[in-house]
Amino acid sequence: MSTRRQFLSTGLAAAPVLALGALPTRTRAVSPQAQARDGARSILILGGTGFLGPHLVKNALDRGHTVSVFNRGRTVPALFPEYFDRVEHLEGDRNGDLASLVGRSWDAVIDNSGQQAAWTRDSAQLLKDRVDLYVYTSSTGVYYPYYGSNLTEDTPLVLEAGPDANEDLAYGVMKAQSELEARRAFGDDRTIVVRPTYIIGPGDRSNRFPYWPARLERGGEVLVPGRPDDPVQWIDARDLTEWMIRLVENRTVGTFNAVAPTWEMGMRAFVHGVHAATTAPCTFVQVDDNDFLLEHGVPYVVPWIMPTPDNYGSARVNFDRAVAAGLRMRPLAVTALDTIAWWHSDSVPEARRQRLVEAPDGLMAREAGILAAWRARG
Ligand SMILES: NC(=O)c1ccc[n+]([C@@H]2O[C@H](COP(=O)([O-])OP(=O)(O)OC[C@H]3O[C@@H](n4cnc5c(N)ncnc54)[C@H](OP(=O)(O)O)[C@@H]3O)[C@@H](O)[C@H]2O)c1
Repeated sequence: MSTRRQFLSTGLAAAPVLALGALPTRTRAVSPQAQARDGARSILILGGTGFLGPHLVKNALDRGHTVSVFNRGRTVPALFPEYFDRVEHLEGDRNGDLASLVGRSWDAVIDNSGQQAAWTRDSAQLLKDRVDLYVYTSSTGVYYPYYGSNLTEDTPLVLEAGPDANEDLAYGVMKAQSELEARRAFGDDRTIVVRPTYIIGPGDRSNRFPYWPARLERGGEVLVPGRPDDPVQWIDARDLTEWMIRLVENRTVGTFNAVAPTWEMGMRAFVHGVHAATTAPCTFVQVDDNDFLLEHGVPYVVPWIMPTPDNYGSARVNFDRAVAAGLRMRPLAVTALDTIAWWHSDSVPEARRQRLVEAPDGLMAREAGILAAWRARG
């Protein structure tokens, strides 16, 4: 059985390998600061071309800011390609090649591609005297193991992982250490840390949320794991990135969980929320026996995670500070509707859509058999 962390990147049905290719080299010598208008900021995004990045780019440009992105030039943005003509592309590698950042200045850097604490240490140390704000895209994964509930930003974090640590713990510790590196360089008064939970919406490179609208639009009997009131949380990439840009504009420093909905929602309400964006009739079959689900290889169907002790609080993350700092959510049905439109667009290869439905190890292909066993059990 795959670990939850593997699932985060692959979805229950294996995620497609997205077409990768070299970005065209951009030669425009734009000085973002020179272009900044009144109130506009010059923003450097470390990364910028995966899932969250294109939404950040779009939101920043739409609000009149100037944007530079720093990456290896391998990942082709699948969303908003027209926006990338207005972006300065700096090539480099966080693994030891930051040369294109040397001697440059920005108002804010958004560290979106952090996969190692040393990467954040190196970029934050390099930029601390030439950039005002450091925004680190962390994760609610810092709270793993998710014991208890109402996990606030002040929850003590695990900061060390031994060599035998599972993937969830290693990821959480890496993110927590990266936060510390950002703060070490920029200090509390110049650091913004956002901790998103599962990021969803158009452009998702995993199949975990797309599973639900894709499944419900097929109609019929739908397996819903867990109890009806098992809590679920997510964050729409648009809500997250609009808010991140506003945090920069307002210089709202601090650490913030980034989770929605900004009220408590259970799994039953979630499936109805997604269903509101589809037209096929569905019968929801709540399979609420966790032992049965484990026996049939269903330990999670994100956003539902089996509430084992170490995952109990994973969807019980406190959102008060984020709401006070301006985080707003769009309705789940809107996220689902936009995700369906994107899922059926040219941005998603047909092979990816087929795999989600047909992959023999995916839930969609196994669902009818599991439901038959559930009924047979009486
Ligand atoms: N997805 C979720 O549900 C979720 C949940 C919580 C937190 N997060 C966090 O959210 C952040 C956003 O992830 P994203 O993938 O959407 O970000 P993104 O900024 O859209 O894409 C990742 C970027 O990293 C660049 N990159 C990868 N390796 C690099 C390297 N060695 N040197 C320089 N650039 C490199 C990629 O470009 P090249 O390949 O061209 O280099 C790409 O531009 C991550 O920090 C993740 O941990 C995600």
